[in-house]
Amino acid sequence: MSKTVIFGATGHIGSALARQLHDNGVPLHLAGRNKADLSALADEVNASFSEFDAMDNSSISQAIADADTGGGLGGLVWAVGSILLKPLSSLSESDIQNCFQLNLFGAMIAAKSALASLKTGQGSILLFSSVAAQTGFNAHTAIGSAKAAIEGLVVALAAEAAPDIRVNAIAPSLSESKMAAPLMANPQMQKALAATHPLGRLGTADDFTALAALLLDNQKAGWITGQIFAVDGGRSSVQVNSRGRS
Ligand SMILES: NC(=O)c1ccc[n+]([C@@H]2O[C@H](COP(=O)([O-])OP(=O)(O)OC[C@H]3O[C@@H](n4cnc5c(N)ncnc54)[C@H](OP(=O)(O)O)[C@@H]3O)[C@@H](O)[C@H]2O)c1
Repeated sequence: MSKTVIFGATGHIGSALARQLHDNGVPLHLAGRNKADLSALADEVNASFSEFDAMDNSSISQAIADADTGGGLGGLVWAVGSILLKPLSSLSESDIQNCFQLNLFGAMIAAKSALASLKTGQGSILLFSSVAAQTGFNAHTAIGSAKAAIEGLVVALAAEAAPDIRVNAIAPSLSESKMAAPLMANPQMQKALAATHPLGRLGTADDFTALAALLLDNQKAGWITGQIFAVDGGRSSVQVNSRGRS
């Protein structure tokens, strides 16, 4: 079986997905920016790995080249991201450029670099959007628009790459992660944020891994492409008033 490459492998979702895919017998190539964490995870899930920086496109292409040792690629995951919470009036040009590089352009470079390998290996692409792509929240102009562009990339690339490569995305709401750690450090803030979700809690990495692994699986998800799946505790589509809570 060809390898699946996970960019952002040392993040909460990336590492949980690496463990799930390893348990499922999927061979892996991990890409991350912290060599010590990357190497420890690679040992745990018997993976090869590349260091990369999402701000450096050549390191992204190099990680793809490292991953494909001749048999093509079975999957590509871009689980890299950041939370930049500032109103438009406070965003600098470099804030905007960095947010788009990390969340969108890097994913595009990874996908472009991997297309030929994914075609050979009959692979699937999985990207991560956000609840903020389709729902407006204060201070989310940069991240909301970068993630909305990811959703545009999913449908456009799904059309271009069909029928050889499937392209899908998961759109999370707030979940435990490195990027959200500052928001969750305050218990009162954490409780208030959890209460904005109809299912009454914030997410964990494990909330995403089963669906992510399914979408990457060409046998089980072989007729699913161009889709964005909300995994968000109901935040994007469900309202629960106080009478609705038992
Ligand atoms: N968690 C949420 O609340 C949430 C909400 C909406 C969308 N999402 C999306 O879900 C995906 C997975 O996020 P997560 O929850 O796993 O968050 P996370 O734990 O913060 O992981 C983010 C990953 O991005 C990596 N990263 C950040 N800047 C990088 C750079 N310059 N070069 C290379 N890697 C870089 C981090 O590397 P290090 O491991 O070295 O720090 C980490 O692996 C992301 O696309 C995110 O935007 C998450």
